[in-house]
Order: sequence, then structure tokens, then C-alpha cells
Amino acid sequence: MSAIRFEEVFLKFPGASHPAVNGCTCEVEAGELVVILGPSGCGKTTLLKMVNRLYEPTSGTIYLDGTDIRKMKVTKLRQQIGYVIQQSGLFPHMTVAENIAVVPKLLGWSRTQYQPRIDELLTLIELPPQDYRNRYPSQLSGGQQQRVGLARALAGDPKVMLMDEPFGAIDAITRETLQNEILRLQRQLKKTILFVSHDVEEALRLADKIMILQKGQIVQFDTPFNILTRPANAFVHELVGADDMVRQLSLLRVETAMIDVPQNHQPRSEHTIARHDNLRQALSLLLRTGAQKLTVLDGGNAVGVLTLEHIRDSASMGAGV
Ligand SMILES: Nc1ncnc2c1ncn2[C@@H]1O[C@H](COP(=O)(O)OP(=O)(O)O)[C@@H](O)[C@H]1O
Ligand SMILES: [Mg+2]
Repeated sequence: MSAIRFEEVFLKFPGASHPAVNGCTCEVEAGELVVILGPSGCGKTTLLKMVNRLYEPTSGTIYLDGTDIRKMKVTKLRQQIGYVIQQSGLFPHMTVAENIAVVPKLLGWSRTQYQPRIDELLTLIELPPQDYRNRYPSQLSGGQQQRVGLARALAGDPKVMLMDEPFGAIDAITRETLQNEILRLQRQLKKTILFVSHDVEEALRLADKIMILQKGQIVQFDTPFNILTRPANAFVHELVGADDMVRQLSLLRVETAMIDVPQNHQPRSEHTIARHDNLRQALSLLLRTGAQKLTVLDGGNAVGVLTLEHIRDSASMGAGV
């Protein structure tokens, strides 16, 4: 059973000439990070806000773990969903610790339950509790505020995270740090995440799957690899810059092109690469070492192999469209 399922979801705002979301049907599996990508005004935020019922669809149904979300109490629904927006939305008069404790307190946790949770979350987002617990949001940088926003959304241990351009207002360097944080957290926590972005590089870097919206419709829902190498139409092709090979390689993770480890495979330690490294790094390692293949590692375990051919295939397919 998929974690989130959209079935023929429409939303037309009163007085609008066109629907903001126009017949979206798709399934998101548990533990997947799905980036909803598309230009401004294509319906990303509207689609997201229907999941926690900030908006109700004009027609169609959204299921959470198989249950129609209209059949659930809104408060119960929202307890299972963490929500992060571009402006961190932290309460300015509350300390970092108080901000993070908001949801656990609503859930009725006792002080002895939520205090350690605050420290655990601050450690998780790499803001040492002893330094940051008692600060106010105005005493944090923009990037740190977004981290605290993330910790607050995670506090009640929701199954699903909705993130609406959470790093949109952050400078490019901090944004990349935060993107890496998300990937690290996701490997650890395995939440089901719907992440809205209008930034193609961010989408390719983060997504297990990318949902491309055009005027409220899903035009492609696939892995970053397939989106780049087999864009569904000219709009997607243009949007993701499918012609630029170097860009493709530097944005695609090794795991998207590797194949399973053959049974008789003998890994050589100097010819390894991490599954989350990118194909450009893999290519440069292959060329530098003259190795036939690389062993792809995940925390010390061999999870795949990669040859020059696999990389060439990934790069050349996109160029042929
Ligand atoms: N509350 C609203 N009332 C009326 N129209 C809206 C509202 N929110 C969004 N829209 C319209 O719906 C369309 C999709 O908007 P939105 O989902 O915010 O796009 P995105 O997040 O992709 O930029 C746009 O045409 C926008 O003007
Ligand atoms: Mg938006």
C-alpha cells in the first residue's frame, strides 16, 4: 500500500478560470523523497496543502496509508504530518527549545518526555543543544532557523513531511549544506517526504522521484535518472536541461546508474565510490585509475558496480531526445 495516493485530484479556486490542480493521480511509496518540480504558479503549493487539508480538493481523493483523509479528523491527520515552509514560521517570542516543544506538548507529552527529544533533535540537525536551546529565532541565521523549523516539524515523529521550498530564501552555499543534511537525515529517518521546489538542481540532488507539474497536471513522475534521460515531452526536456551532459553527470547519483553486484565480484579497495557520490566523480575516478569498474559502497557494504559503459549510457540517452 502506498503511503500517499492522489486520485483524480482537482482544485479550482473560486472565480479562477483554470484549475490550479488539474486531475492529479499518483502514488508515493513509504520512505520515498518525492520532489514536486515546476515553474511558479503550476500548482505545487496547492497540491501540497491539500495533503494536510489546508485546502480541500474540488473533486478527487487523497489517501494516507489507504485511508481517505476526509474521513480523518484534521487534528489527527496533521499530527502525522510535519510541515516546513520557506519562512521558517518559528514563533519569535519562543526560544528554540520552546518552538520545538510545541507539537509534543500538543500531543500531551510530559516534560520528561519532550526535554530529551529537544536535545536529540538539536543534535540531529547539528545545532549543539547547550548552545542553541535558549536562543530566540532572531539570534539565528536564516539557515539555522530553517534547521530549527525542520526539527520542529520532526518533533512529533510524523510519518510524512511536507516541505514547501524550505530552502528557497537561503543563499546558495548554505542551501547546498542543508540539502546534504536532508539526504543524511533521510537515510537515517526514512520519512515519506513531499518536497516542493522550482530548482532543478535541488530536485535532481534530493529526489528518489520527481513529479513534474505543468499547469496543474503531472506530466512526468519518475526517477531523476529517467527524467533526465527520457524526458516525457519538450517541456520537461527544456525544464531539466536534458541536453547538457556534464550537468547530467554531476547531478546524477551513482546509485541511479549502477547495476547489482555480480556474484563472483571481488571489490578492490582503491576502486570504490559511495552510492551518493555523483557520476561525474565516478567518471573521473575511472579515468584516473584506469579501473574497469567501480564497486559502489554504502557504509562499507558493496551495493553495486559501475562501469564506463553505464555512465556513457546515462549521458548519451538524454542527448538523443
Ligand atoms: N488561495 C488562492 N486563491 C486563489 N488562487 C490561488 C490561491 N493560491 C494559489 N492560487 C492560484 O493557483 C495557481 C497555483 O498556485 P500555487 O499552487 O501557489 O503555485 P506554485 O506553488 O507552483 O507556485 C496560481 O495560478 C495561483 O495564482
Ligand atoms: Mg508555491
